[in-house]
Amino acid sequence: MKKELEQLSQSAKQAIENVGTSKELEKVEQQYFGRKDGELNNILKSLKTLSDKEKKIFGEAANSIKQELRNLLEQKKNSLGDKQVSEQIEQGELDVTLPGRKKDLGSLNPVSTIQYELENIFRSLGFMILDGPELESEYYNFEALNVPEHHPARDMQDTFYIKGKDQGARSKDEERLLLRTHTSPVQVRAMQKYGAPLRAVVPGRVFRYEALDASHENTFNQLEGLMIGKDISIVNLIAVMKTLLKGIFKKDIKVRLRPGYFPFVEPGFELDIHCLICDGRGCSVCKNSGWVELLPCGMVHPNVLRAGNIDPDEFSGFAFGLGLTRLVMMRYGIDDIRLINLGDLRFLKQF
Ligand code: DAH
Repeated sequence: MKKELEQLSQSAKQAIENVGTSKELEKVEQQYFGRKDGELNNILKSLKTLSDKEKKIFGEAANSIKQELRNLLEQKKNSLGDKQVSEQIEQGELDVTLPGRKKDLGSLNPVSTIQYELENIFRSLGFMILDGPELESEYYNFEALNVPEHHPARDMQDTFYIKGKDQGARSKDEERLLLRTHTSPVQVRAMQKYGAPLRAVVPGRVFRYEALDASHENTFNQLEGLMIGKDISIVNLIAVMKTLLKGIFKKDIKVRLRPGYFPFVEPGFELDIHCLICDGRGCSVCKNSGWVELLPCGMVHPNVLRAGNIDPDEFSGFAFGLGLTRLVMMRYGIDDIRLINLGDLRFLKQF
């Protein structure tokens, strides 16, 4: 064994020294270090058959030879590389004074940029950032949110139903699947998982069966918000919304609540913000009203708390559904929603 190792070391050193090109060096590397039939590997494999004592002696010797040869190989590689470059320059094949090629770096879609900004604001207010399934059960998307099977409110959110059942469902109700129409189903999932008190936001993609036009897409993004605790009221809702707006627009923004209907909140509201374009004086953006609709929100309906295994006599909470895609369009003045998912570089490179 000792002799074999010495011979191998000698011949490998010789071979590495004699090599003149990178190609030849690759061959030598293969001959000695190749995984399958490399000579050094074959010797290392045969160590198995030796006694423990011999294994130790020859194993160490073989490894130190391996290391030595690896170093020689690396040195040779570097010197060959240098030589090739200098030869190429001499022969005029390589012009190192040419400007380098610029790498095209990608950038974030503006929806992601705003999403990450919002996540940071909510994290600073103690909210968890949660995720939920896009292929959702009909139960969580509707029933658990106080929208029973034949409720007309289901028509407000027409969606894509999926053939087949969720094999992992815990009950018959949860078996039927659809593409979620909003991020609200994660409210109940979060309540069931974490209980009360609870603060969470859920950014995510949602889907609707829509005829596409400049303001309707079948796939868009929302950010759901939920805060549950003892004595949570509309006052808390307004305070959180104002903090959110200050984070986005970097100044205090006036808000107002109008009544709005959603089955999963009671009372429900539409939250408007003071028009930033005309400062409330009236312009085409706010249709001369001085106010722009921002998001629907409200106090979580007792039935929804119950679906989440939370006692409505003990806890209360607010929820809101921010249209991320719409916020992006407002912030950057984008007038066609279809541009957002199109993947057209001429659009995306502007952000
Ligand atoms: N999920 C509703 C939608 O997509 C929006 C919404 C309304 C969410 C009121 C809420 C809420 O959390 O309280 O149309």
